[in-house]
Amino acid sequence: APAGTAGPSLVEPVLVGHRGASGYRPEHTLAAYELAIEQGADFIEPDLVSTRDGVLVARHENEIGGTTDVADHPEYAGRRTTKVIEGSPVTGWFTEDFTYKELRTLRAKERLPQVRPDNTAYDGQERIPTLDEVIKLARREGVGIYPETKHPTYFDSIGLSLEEPLVAALRKRHWADADDPVIIQSFEVSNLRRLDAMVDVPLAQLVDAAGGPADLPGTTYASMVTPAGLATIATYADGLGAAKNLVLPRDAAGRTGAPSSVVPDAHAVGLVVHVWTLRRENQFMATNFRIGTDPNAPGDLAAEARAFLDAGVDGVFSDNPDVVAGVMDKT
Ligand code: G3P
Ligand code: CA
Repeated sequence: APAGTAGPSLVEPVLVGHRGASGYRPEHTLAAYELAIEQGADFIEPDLVSTRDGVLVARHENEIGGTTDVADHPEYAGRRTTKVIEGSPVTGWFTEDFTYKELRTLRAKERLPQVRPDNTAYDGQERIPTLDEVIKLARREGVGIYPETKHPTYFDSIGLSLEEPLVAALRKRHWADADDPVIIQSFEVSNLRRLDAMVDVPLAQLVDAAGGPADLPGTTYASMVTPAGLATIATYADGLGAAKNLVLPRDAAGRTGAPSSVVPDAHAVGLVVHVWTLRRENQFMATNFRIGTDPNAPGDLAAEARAFLDAGVDGVFSDNPDVVAGVMDKT
C-alpha cells in the first residue's frame, strides 16, 4: 500500500466486523461497515456476489428477498423465480438477474427482524454497496477488507466469474499486493486455487463444522482440518477461517471443553486461524447457554471472545465488534 495508508497489523489477533457491525445495522451496508470501524474492527467483511453486468456487490446471498425491499417493487415482480444453488432449490430474486443500475434502486433491510428488532429502524435507508465502495471506505478509514466469494462455482456456471472482477477491483485501488490489508476467503477450494495464481494477497480457506466444500463432492471439512488436510490448504492459502465449534468443541449441553488441536495443527503448517462467528445471540460460553430459548439474552460474549483468544486464534469475526474490541483492547 502507498505510504500513509498502511492497514491493520496481521500479527496481533485481528477483529473482523462480520458483514459490518451486523448485530446493530442491516448487514452489508455502508452504515454497518462504518459502525464496525468505529467500534474497533481491523477488517470489514463483504460477502460478494455478482450482478448481471458483472459488478461485485456486498450481499450474503445472491437471493436478496430477505435483505432488501425488492418485494415492494412491482416492476421486479416478474423476476421472482426458483433456482437450484449448490443442490438446493432457492426461491426469490437473484442479483445475477439485475443490472447494477437496477440494484441501486433497492434498499437494504434487516435479515433477522425477530432476532434484531432494533436494526429494523434502519430498514429502507441504505443501498447495496459495491465492492469498490467498500474498498474506498476501508482505505479512507485505515482498516482492511476481508472479502468472501459466495458460490463462485455457481457464478462460473452462468458465465459470471467472481475472480476476475475481484482482482480487478483490488488492482484498481492498488490493494493487490501481499502486504496490503486484504484477505480473501472462500469455502470453495477451486476458487482459492485460482485466486492464488492470480493475486498475491493472503487467502483463507473457510471450513464449516459439518459438510464439505461445494466444489469438491466427497471431500469433507473434517478431513480438511486433519494435519494432512491443513498441509494441503497451506499449499494455496495462508489462513484457515474456522467455524468456532472446530476450535472449541461443544458438548450436548452447549458447554465448551478443552480446545481441539486445530489451532496448533494449523500453526504448525504456517496457517493463521480466524474463527467465526462471535455474536451476541449465540454465546455458548455463557454459564446459562441458551440457544433456542431467548435469542436476545445478553449472555457473555466477552467471555466467549476471551476463550477463543486463550485457545490461540489469530483473529475472530464478530457481529458485535464493540464487545469483542473491549476484550482485545482495541477500543
Ligand atoms: O467468513 C466467516 C463467515 O462469514 C462464513 O460464513 O455464512 O457468515 O458468510 P457466513
Ligand atoms: Ca462471510
